[in-house]
Parts: sequence; C-alpha cells; structure tokens
Amino acid sequence: METIFSGIQPSGTPTIGNYIGAMKQFVNLQESYNCYFCIVDEHAITVPQEPQKLRQQTRSLAALYLAVGLDPEKAKIFIQSEVSAHAEAAWIIQCNTSIGELERMTQFKDKSQKNGRTGVSAGLLTYPPLMVGDIILYNADLVPVGEDQKQHLELTRDFVERFNKRYAQPNQEILTMPEVKIAEQGSRIMSLQNPTSKMSKSDANPKGFISMLDEPNVIRKKIKSAVTDSTGVIEYDPENKPGISNLLSIFSAATDRSIDELAEAYNGKGYGEFKTDLAEAVVALLEPIQNRYKELLVSEELDDILDHGAEKARLVANKTLQRMKNAVGLGRKPKRNK
Ligand code: AQP
Repeated sequence: METIFSGIQPSGTPTIGNYIGAMKQFVNLQESYNCYFCIVDEHAITVPQEPQKLRQQTRSLAALYLAVGLDPEKAKIFIQSEVSAHAEAAWIIQCNTSIGELERMTQFKDKSQKNGRTGVSAGLLTYPPLMVGDIILYNADLVPVGEDQKQHLELTRDFVERFNKRYAQPNQEILTMPEVKIAEQGSRIMSLQNPTSKMSKSDANPKGFISMLDEPNVIRKKIKSAVTDSTGVIEYDPENKPGISNLLSIFSAATDRSIDELAEAYNGKGYGEFKTDLAEAVVALLEPIQNRYKELLVSEELDDILDHGAEKARLVANKTLQRMKNAVGLGRKPKRNK
C-alpha cells in the first residue's frame, strides 16, 4: 500500500478552500492508502500567533479532521509538535539546502514583500525544509496538496535526490522520492472578495473566505456579497470571469455536480438565484460537519485519538530520522533501527 502524508496549519479556522483542496481528498484517500494526516502547528508559528489561540485552533482543526470523516482506524491523525523528529529532521534538511533555493519560493517572496524582509521571521524562509521533513519522515510516496504547494513539493523532490546521491551507498535509498498529487478540480479556490487571490484562512478580510465553522447566515451573507462581474452570464471562464468561475468551482465541489452540468442548469438564470442556491448547498455541506465537530470538541475521545496518532507516527518518523543522522554522521556511531 502506498503512503500519503499531508497536513494543514492551525493558523485559523480552515476555509472551504482548505476543505475542497485538501480535507475532502483526505477522506477518500484514507480508503486506499496508508495515510498520515498532520496538524502542522510548527508551520503556523512562522508568523506570529497568540499562544492560547494557537492551542485552541490546533485542537479545533483535529476535531474538524474527524468531523469531515477521517477515521483514526484508517489514518494516523496527529499534531506535528508532538513528534519531535520533525524539528530535528528540519535542521539536517536546512543544512543541506541553499538559501537561494529558499528565497525563490513564491510564498516566501509574497509574504516577505507584504511585511518587508526584516519584518518576517527566519522560520518563514526555512519552513519549506520543515515541510520536506514532514513528507520524508513517513516515506511518503504521494502528497495530496492544492496547486499553491506544488513548488514546495518540487523542492522536496530536489532535496531527496540530492540527499540520496550525496549520502547513500550504491544501491541504497535513504529517503523515499515523493510524487505530488493535485486535485483535478477545486485545487485553488479563490477569495470571494478578490477572486484573483487564493482563499486563505488568515485573510484579514473575513468576507474573503467561508470558514468551515461559519454560521449558516454568515455563509449566506458572504456568498451574496461575493465579487462577480457585470455580464450576468453564468459560465466557467477563470481568465475573464474569475469571480463566477470560482463560485462554480465551489458549487461543484459542494454538490459533486460537474461544472458543465451546473453551468447548463443555470444558463439564462441570474447571479442572484445562483448565489442563493450555492449558499444553501454550502450550508447543507457544512451543517453536519459542524454538528459532529461540536460533539468531538468536548469529548475525551479527541485527545485519545491524537495521543495514539502521535505514538504511531513517532515509530516511523524516528526510524527515518535515525537513518538521516547516520547518513550525515551525527552522534558517536551509527545506530541500528530496531
Ligand atoms: N484556497 C485554496 N484552495 C484549495 N486548496 C487550498 N489549500 C489552502 N488554501 C486553498 C490547501 O489546504 C492545505 C493546507 O493548507 P495550509 O493551511 O497548510 O496552508 P496554506 O496553503 O497557506 O493555507 P491557507 O488557508 O492559505 O493558510 P494561511 O492563511 O495560514 O496561509 C494545502 O494542501 C493547501 O494546498
């Protein structure tokens, strides 16, 4: 069985973009793969976070993982900072990655441009190596992510090739080469207010995203005020009509109806009617998830699942970390994996 790793940062409440681009896929993947689904809290602190809020968001994200249908019997669900191998591996990876490679990352360029180079943490520059570690520690064959993460996956593949070439004996492979798995549709859900930018949970304007925990009336209002265009024609044309195309993508992911089918069904109808129906579809999608989430959040079951998930993750992650330490020469002598 092939192995999959993926994670989401607890940097806010997940949006419908995180759900469509990542979580929805996770639920299907757990049926046919050996899955590790992580709450990557160490990634979240690359930008300032309020400690109490971060803890609450971490637990909340774990509850959402379960509420959308992840099953701890099928997938390993855990919190990154509870498996110390992540931070240790990240150091070895940083020391085998050039600054140039990291400075080329679009996410770093975007965020450092917004805040100025001196205003961002060193962690924002070096977080791709932490992500490389997440993937390689579990010997992942596949990494399901949205389009925006593709560049980080390329960095991971370059690193694995370089590391194996530099440190492995002939015919030996220290690290597994991962493949990226992009969702065919909905891999990039855009902001409702600015449909040329990605929908993000940390967007300062809450009207730009639908949070998975938004109340039905909030969802209705946000969709009603979503930016479209003045043509009034419902068609999928991301280049020229990014707003309505984005809403079609959301509608399609929420209902499992194809974009073509939806465009046909709403042919000749106005944006108002389309938005009303879309809002009801999103409410219908999120309501059962929210109900299950509320039960889980107050249960002990959640903490037991996370403790158990971290234990299982540690077993595999520590083995890979030891192989890496042995390879680069850390410690007095190489240690055998049990
Ligand atoms: N808008 C999106 N459309 C489709 N997929 C998305 N993902 C994120 N936004 C969209 C996918 O969700 C997964 C987890 O992302 P993350 O939280 O680890 O980091 P991110 O990509 O930086 O997500 P956000 O919401 O934009 O967070 P902030 O605002 O904190 O930076 C990934 O698989 C991602 O592709």
